[in-house]
Amino acid sequence: MSLRRDLGRARYAAAQGARVAWYMSQYLLARRVSGPFNRPGEQKFKPQAKGGDPTRIRAAFLELFAKDRANIEAGLYPAPDDIRVTRALAALRNSARFFRDLPNVDARRLQRDGVEIRDAVRAEGESRYPTYYLQNFHYQSGGWLTEDSAKLYDTQVEILFGGAADAMRRVALGALARGIKGRDQRGVKLVDVACGNGHFLRQVMAAFPRLPATGLDLSPAYCAEARERLANWRQVEIVQGAIEQAPFEDASFDAVTCVYLFHELPPRVRREAVREMARLLKPGGVLVLADSIQTGDAPALDQMLEYFPVGFHEPYFNSYLGEDFEALLSEAGFEIEQTELAFLTKVMRFRKRGNS
Ligand SMILES: C[S@@+](CC[C@H](N)C(=O)[O-])C[C@H]1O[C@@H](n2cnc3c(N)ncnc32)[C@H](O)[C@@H]1O
Repeated sequence: MSLRRDLGRARYAAAQGARVAWYMSQYLLARRVSGPFNRPGEQKFKPQAKGGDPTRIRAAFLELFAKDRANIEAGLYPAPDDIRVTRALAALRNSARFFRDLPNVDARRLQRDGVEIRDAVRAEGESRYPTYYLQNFHYQSGGWLTEDSAKLYDTQVEILFGGAADAMRRVALGALARGIKGRDQRGVKLVDVACGNGHFLRQVMAAFPRLPATGLDLSPAYCAEARERLANWRQVEIVQGAIEQAPFEDASFDAVTCVYLFHELPPRVRREAVREMARLLKPGGVLVLADSIQTGDAPALDQMLEYFPVGFHEPYFNSYLGEDFEALLSEAGFEIEQTELAFLTKVMRFRKRGNS
């Protein structure tokens, strides 16, 4: 048993070490070749928060992987199998794509142009998207609306987080696994809100292959990518739509997950989204929210949070940093069950009041 565990740990350390080295080296290279955050002549941005202690940041990074490994050993989800020689070519291709696109991202950052996509969509006529959505979040090319963006997104996120994004999402998977423990997965209807290109849903399906799952996202391009990635699970359905008017019946799900959406919503829409999630869930149902840590969650990281909206076009991030999710969710009929930090991500698990 302990030999198996030791081998598992060694494999995990080798795979995650390789992953971090791969993405971290691209992060460092991108910082070297990228333009500055501020325009020529403009004052350099100075964060208010004290901190930024590199030893604390490194410790939080390593704690994430220790937590991920502990979750795997506790049987909450299988070890990731993402490091494979056969995937090396795709990784190289994605990296080339990322660096080809980087000058466009830089140009938008320098011009503070986070609404290029809005102008493009409106030039084509009537838009069916809400205004807040039509932005180049992170200064990304195509906003949420192009096939290229849907394909490039994972690489951009992993480079930004030095290879830690997958492990951060898996901590949310651990919270879900604890939240549905003891239940037959075939009877747990789950909706992943803002499923994007299906990345988290694929992690969910790797752990719970017979779970009836739905992904909801407003982007047709990301939905198309998610459908392709989840084609192996025939019971998974991807639906295009907005969470504010989710196209599902009341109390039609046992579990709702939502990863990295709330920091991109204006405060009013956050409230609408929470109300809809409460409507969709059965009494006793579980809600797992994973998103950026907020001010004060990990004071040593507060300074990094302040840079985020400056360098990455996140217009609602500052208001997100002070949002009281426990109070918001309590008003909507939820009780908090667990909060845990996973490097720059905070995972909260709630239960909808009432008996299932
Ligand atoms: C930062 S990405 C997160 C994607 C995914 N959950 C992940 O873990 O990578 C945000 C996603 O939210 C979607 N989105 C934004 N506003 C939405 C809304 N009101 N309703 C549904 N999806 C929305 C975007 O299309 C995008 O795919």
